[in-house]
Amino acid sequence: MLKTGIGGDVPAFRVMDVITRANERAASLPPGAPGVIRLESGQPSIGLPEGAKAAVQAALMSGDPLGYTETLGRPSLRAAIAAHIRAWYGADVAPSRIMVTVGGSGAFPLAFLAAFTTGDEVALASPYYPPYLNILVALGLKPVILPCGLETGFQPTIEMLEALPRKPEGLIIANPANPTGSMMSRAEVERLALWCHANGVRLISDEIYHGLTYGKPICTASALSPSAIVINSFSKYFAMTGWRIGWMVLPEALVRPAERLAQNFFISAPYISQVAAEAALSCHAELEARRQTYESARAVMLDGLHAAGFSRISPPDGAFYAYAELPAAAPDAMAYCAWLLAEKNIAATPGLDFDAARGQRFVRFSYCLAPDMIAEAMARLAPGA
Ligand SMILES: Cc1ncc(COP(=O)(O)O)c(C=O)c1O
Repeated sequence: MLKTGIGGDVPAFRVMDVITRANERAASLPPGAPGVIRLESGQPSIGLPEGAKAAVQAALMSGDPLGYTETLGRPSLRAAIAAHIRAWYGADVAPSRIMVTVGGSGAFPLAFLAAFTTGDEVALASPYYPPYLNILVALGLKPVILPCGLETGFQPTIEMLEALPRKPEGLIIANPANPTGSMMSRAEVERLALWCHANGVRLISDEIYHGLTYGKPICTASALSPSAIVINSFSKYFAMTGWRIGWMVLPEALVRPAERLAQNFFISAPYISQVAAEAALSCHAELEARRQTYESARAVMLDGLHAAGFSRISPPDGAFYAYAELPAAAPDAMAYCAWLLAEKNIAATPGLDFDAARGQRFVRFSYCLAPDMIAEAMARLAPGA
């Protein structure tokens, strides 16, 4: 029998399996029955902003063949991203350090392969976004889990890094994080960035939920450390998940290695998605209105979860997730989520995907739906419902 390859044992990204089960449940319900409320998913339910739609239509009608682009991305998009970074963070990043990628997801293997060599250790907080760990493993790198709890907002600290038996080659952070929605303060990001730079630890900062924050200020690691790699995306705030478009800010020395890798892996990100992304960068009024809707949905969800007995919830600083510890009397997260789907027609994600050690006591609820849908879900969850 032929063997499977070096990535053949990579674990599933189980959220995708939860989505499949929720789809099956929805398809099995009789017509007219209350539908499944989808709190498992991490994607906006409204798509492309209007200005981006218009730009796509114009590009389709233009007669342009919309072929490959430069591997690093269309120069006009890279310049527009540099302008966006200046507007949002007051930081000057040369367009030559910006690389357009196939979603934030497409940036991870490029960043990891450009920055690390086989066997290198890369630290990350747990709970974590599962693909960080699974991609590291698939590439022959060693994830080093830093178990984090509510006391640090589920975020890593310098003390945790210094307590490791050996210094890792890399550290991944996410602000706001998935599944917790929590954010470090600017001072905390700065301390970590400076520590990493001084200690030869490559910092990879996932900033893909920037724009979806509810009061706490954002900062970019690229303004704080010349050696950090920043990963961002048009999927969340810009609501373009299916367009598969993201970007990286790279230190000068990693631009050419990442470009060579991408030339071979992908050639380029899709042309039409780059057109949409460039236009989306001018759609802030529409996108800010959507952010305010998430903020309302977040308030409804937090009230509802507390009323349903979830008293320990991660600090919901940003993104659109609440990571909640199950009440003591509840069964484990897999059983709880199966019950929730079967009995209440609510899909949610068990914490096991994000934290193999402690995730059985946690559930991730996403509030990227209209506030009235979240209210309906919370009514189904209410005691005695
Ligand atoms: C923290 C985090 N990083 C990266 C991604 C990848 O997103 P995309 O590939 O759509 O840009 C996601 C998607 O949910 C995420 O939650």
